[in-house]
Amino acid sequence: MSFSENKPAQKLADLGVTQPHEIAPLFTEIRARFDADASAAHDEFTWKQFRDAWLGRKSGVLTLITDNWLKPSPPELKRAVGAALNELRAHVESQVEARRVAIESGADEAALARERIDLSLPGASRPIGSHHLIRQVFQQIEDIFVSIGFSVVEGPEIETPYYNFEALNIPEFHPVRDDMDTFYLDLPKGAETPLLMRTHTSPMQIRTMEKRQPPVRVIVPGKVYRRDNPDATHSFIFHQVEGLAVDTDITFCDFTGTIEYFVKQFFGPGVKTRFRPSYFPFTEPSVEFDVSCIFCGGSGTSASGGTCSKCKGAGWIELFGAGMVDPAVYGFVKYDPKKVSGFAFGMGIDRLAMLKYGIDDIQVFFQHDARFLRQFP
Ligand code: FA5
Repeated sequence: MSFSENKPAQKLADLGVTQPHEIAPLFTEIRARFDADASAAHDEFTWKQFRDAWLGRKSGVLTLITDNWLKPSPPELKRAVGAALNELRAHVESQVEARRVAIESGADEAALARERIDLSLPGASRPIGSHHLIRQVFQQIEDIFVSIGFSVVEGPEIETPYYNFEALNIPEFHPVRDDMDTFYLDLPKGAETPLLMRTHTSPMQIRTMEKRQPPVRVIVPGKVYRRDNPDATHSFIFHQVEGLAVDTDITFCDFTGTIEYFVKQFFGPGVKTRFRPSYFPFTEPSVEFDVSCIFCGGSGTSASGGTCSKCKGAGWIELFGAGMVDPAVYGFVKYDPKKVSGFAFGMGIDRLAMLKYGIDDIQVFFQHDARFLRQFP
């Protein structure tokens, strides 16, 4: 309160007030000063000063008025002073409280404004990843085979020589093992059997037939390992999809029909296919399956007129090995070779993906360069 002349500190007589009708203007003046003080109280600190100035017990304005005006006033003034003081007290008390509430809610609003989240601001964007191209190709292959009645099974990448070689009719010292040298695990001395990183998905032929009776129709996607030196078409870790169909009446025609159906679904109807005689110890007869070169359209000649570097002028690219399951293999899984027949194939997925997407170096699949990966969302 900033009275130029602190009237409540003086007696009414000293102020020259002697008549009841002089009381009301005096209180009107006090009330106007109070209202001015109230609007100046704008935060917690100034509000407390304001409250104490008007309601303070010892020297608040209301106490001073009570002590200096009401108590000593002569009987003819007391009634008017008392009534006016009561009215002023009610006004002061209600307004002090109203200012408190207003200041508090104002503070809340200011805090809210400070903490408000602006939903219109652009957020920190996290790029969404995608499946690796090899995973995408696995999926495409699985979809095609599942649509014609195959189911998908997976098997261990660490294998025993029995499943990886012997049960597939590849005894120790068989020359085929030279092409499939691999990584052996360091095992404690006296281990029951050596363990190796599987060189192909074919061990799952054996594991599946051990568990299931014909009819069997499965594909096996997975990683395989070989002690091969890396170059544009070789990696020491790569991917295969094995296929196996065994039943009582499966013929070579079922085999070729299934493979051709798959290749046309995967590469498109324009691609030509051919089978070439080959050799695998676990299929008889065995074939290599070729497709017409998708880079030169099967002509063997590149766009510039030279020899196509992808098929080396042959017009054909080798896709994968396959064949009718060798009856000797059925002996390892206790199937009766006189009753059942079937076919198997093993595709190199990395090379399939390279052909389909025109990729000329297998190593890019393993380098995880985001610029390459982003091309296959
Ligand atoms: C096999 O692995 C046989 N298990 C396939 C098979 C299954 C035949 C069932 C008959 C019946 P092969 O060694 O050819 O076959 O390998 C199959 C495919 O794997 C090859 O055609 C090739 O596409 C791929 N491949 C082989 N070695 C590598 C390598 N180091 N890097 C990348 N791909 C490879």
